This record gives sequence, C-alpha cells and structure tokens, in this order.
Amino acid sequence: MRVYLDHAATSPLRPEVLNAYTEALQLVGNPSAIHSGGQSSRAILEGARERLAKVAHCDRNEVIFTSGGTESNNLAIKGLFAERAGNLIITTAAEHHAVLDAVEYLETQGAEVHWLKLNRDGQIEMDELSKVLEERSAETALIALMWVNNETGIVTPIHEVTALAAKYGVPVHSDAVAAFGHMPTNFAESGLATMALTGHKLGGPVGTGALIVSRATKVVPLLHGGGQERGFRAGTMDAAGALALAVAAETPQPDYTGLEALAVKLITPLGNLTRGASQGIPNILNFTFEGCPGDSLLFLLDQAEIEVSNGSACTAGVARASHVLLAMGFSEAEASSALRVSFGPQTTAEDVKALAEALPKVVATARKI
Ligand SMILES: Cc1ncc(COP(=O)(O)O)c(C=O)c1O
Repeated sequence: MRVYLDHAATSPLRPEVLNAYTEALQLVGNPSAIHSGGQSSRAILEGARERLAKVAHCDRNEVIFTSGGTESNNLAIKGLFAERAGNLIITTAAEHHAVLDAVEYLETQGAEVHWLKLNRDGQIEMDELSKVLEERSAETALIALMWVNNETGIVTPIHEVTALAAKYGVPVHSDAVAAFGHMPTNFAESGLATMALTGHKLGGPVGTGALIVSRATKVVPLLHGGGQERGFRAGTMDAAGALALAVAAETPQPDYTGLEALAVKLITPLGNLTRGASQGIPNILNFTFEGCPGDSLLFLLDQAEIEVSNGSACTAGVARASHVLLAMGFSEAEASSALRVSFGPQTTAEDVKALAEALPKVVATARKI
C-alpha cells in the first residue's frame, strides 16, 4: 500500500462529496435557464452558496464561485488593483505562485510592489507594515497576505493585519486556500475584503473554488460574458461543482494534532522542523535535511512507496530551492533540502511511522548523491 502524505497538494474526494457530486452531475439544465431543469440546477447552486456561506461565515451574496484557488487569487489581486486608484501592492515573497505571479504580472503593467520582509519564523514585522501604510496608504491598492502558508503551515495573524489596514482604508486580500477548513476562518470577523479558497485541498473536486468578496468591495472581473456571480465572474455556473465544494467544506477535518506530535517526535531527530510547534496548522509540516537535495528525497521516498513533496516549484523537471524558505532567510542549501509532509482524513499513525522508518536510509542515500 502506498503512503500518501501530500494532502496539501491535493486531497482525495471524500465519500460524502463523491455521492453528492455524482448525483448532481446527472442533472440537466443551465442554472440561468427559465425551464424546470434550469430551476432545479439553480436551486442546487443557490443551496450550495448558502451552505458554503455558513461555513465561511459570510453572506451568501459574498460567495463568488470560481474554478479554484488560482482563479480566485487572480480575480482578487488583478480585480482589486484595477478597481482602486493606487498602484502600490503590499505582499511578501512567500506567497503561493497564484499570488506572486499575478503580482509580478501587474508589475509589468505599472504596479509597484512593497515586499514585506519575513523573519525566520515566517512572520512579517507589523512595524514595517505600519510604516509603509503611514507613508504610502494613499498610493496603496491592496495588501495580499496568505492566511496559512501551504509549504510550512505557518499562520499569519490576519486580524492584526486587517485592523491596521482598516485605519488607512486599504483592502486586504488573503489566500486562505491552505487555511479554509483546517482552522477557523470567519470571514465576517476577519476584516478582509476578499478571501480565496479551493475545493481540492478539502476533499472536494479539482476545479471548484470560491472568492469571498465582501459586500463593500468591488473587483473588476477577469472574465466578461453573461454577468453571472454578481457580475464578477462570467460563465455558466457549475451547480454540481458548487454543491461538491459546499459538502467538502461542511465535512469536518479530523483533529491532526496527534499525527503532528507523532511526526515531530519521529522526524525531528533526522531533520529540522522549519517552524515552531505553535506557529502552524497541524496538518502541514516542513522539514529540512542538511546536505540532501530535496528532489532526491522525493525520488527515494517514492521508490519506498511514500508520496510527499517539497512544495517548491518544479519547472520542466528542474527542482528549485523553496522560494518560501528563501523568503524566510534560510540558505539556498537549506531551502533546497526541504520536505513537506501533509495529512488528510485518510492519514494514519502507521503512515507517519512508515515515513519515519524509511527516512534514515533515504537521507543517508540522498547525502551521497
Ligand atoms: C496556498 C495556495 N494558494 C493557491 C493555490 C492554487 O489553488 P488551485 O490549485 O485550486 O488553483 C494552492 C494550490 O497549491 C495553494 O496551496
């Protein structure tokens, strides 16, 4: 049996989701159509919106269904930027590429970016944010900070950020893809303008997701067409996908703290945990293994039937150092030796033990490569 410890990359469909999804997929009718089939699809879609809103603690009208995290982040960042007068974007270099690349694209279109520094704990310094807002709030279009980092599991104190930003009237977008469903993400209390989430990290289908857009916020759409989703996201609405996303969001995740403690106990003698125990969500752990190329670790573990990842982008088969760890001040060598272990509802203590048993040999072999 292969051991799958890569749920932060994608997590298998949960049985509840599969049942609801396959049933809804058999419905015929565009949710915008007047006939009965269309109205049945509309009822499923709006029911899903209501259910997702309840989990996200937002108003149903604030839910904009999208194709996932990448689209939601792009819509928020490009859409807020186009809507606002300023041309400064405040963010960090540890964001997911769905944010980084959108921001870097906007740089080619005249945006200026203030990259907030991160400390070794992966946290921004509030003083730096405060200073840049004090000096440049009139020029600031938006702040984009992820709620949970998908490589390290580190949690950003979003409420502190939004409280500060509110003093200057600057909207805050958060990529909550790794947070939503895994920790409390109460949108109404968050002070956020927009929040991105996706289905497939929760046991929902790939290709489902949402951007929560507060009532007070407007974004210029990326897609123009039929005016669906408050005019923010044109395209025939995917009622079955919306339902599957809502069911995945409603299905609670298990408590992963026991697995986290076990993994920390068994793996830290072999590698270094890249965050403090209290700084992250329990389902994502990241270790560095001195002197081991990350891609060799992955390859050797895969041969031992264990599937993990290092979270770093792998372009055309060339493994690169983790941009997240580099942004936190880790050396190139450390950032190239990372391994991300992430849990899902199917993960057992045996899976964690299998990884810990395979690692000494894998690490020793990788060091020789
Ligand atoms: C933090 C984060 N943001 C955005 C995304 C992109 O989401 P999607 O795969 O749904 O486009 C991911 C997926 O890896 C992610 O981990």
